Amino acid sequence: MDISKILSLLRENMDKAYAPYSNFHVGAVILSADGKYYSGCNVENAAYPLGVCAEGGAISAMVQNGSREISDIYVMGSGDELVTPCGGCRQKIREFSSNKTNIHICGPEGLRKSFTIEDLLPYSFGPDNLKI
Ligand code: THU
Repeated sequence: MDISKILSLLRENMDKAYAPYSNFHVGAVILSADGKYYSGCNVENAAYPLGVCAEGGAISAMVQNGSREISDIYVMGSGDELVTPCGGCRQKIREFSSNKTNIHICGPEGLRKSFTIEDLLPYSFGPDNLKI
């Protein structure tokens, strides 16, 4: 998929967000290492801490459909600030990352900035730590 199609999908995913409390809609798209695309949007809850982020939704869709490695994850939100993944989502992305995984932050107008997982979560704890 070229970047313009990914941006369209991100906008669609943003539109699907269930965010009646924050009114902040976020869309996510994962390209897995085996070449498949997975979508997510944030889904909030009246019991506020139970809401899930767009990235978490896309990761669940990926795992449920049999992919285990994120090649690229795209995140789109509104406003002037970069909508980088929250701390919890950085750790969730890390679980399924390689050292080639890229995180692309987008606004409704297009791609804003790209990071590696190492940029966003240096010295991270991951699955290898448990191989003792
Ligand atoms: N949110 C995401 O879905 N992803 C992010 O990267 C940042 C924040 C959601 C969580 C909540 O539903 C709303 O945005 C406001 O924090």
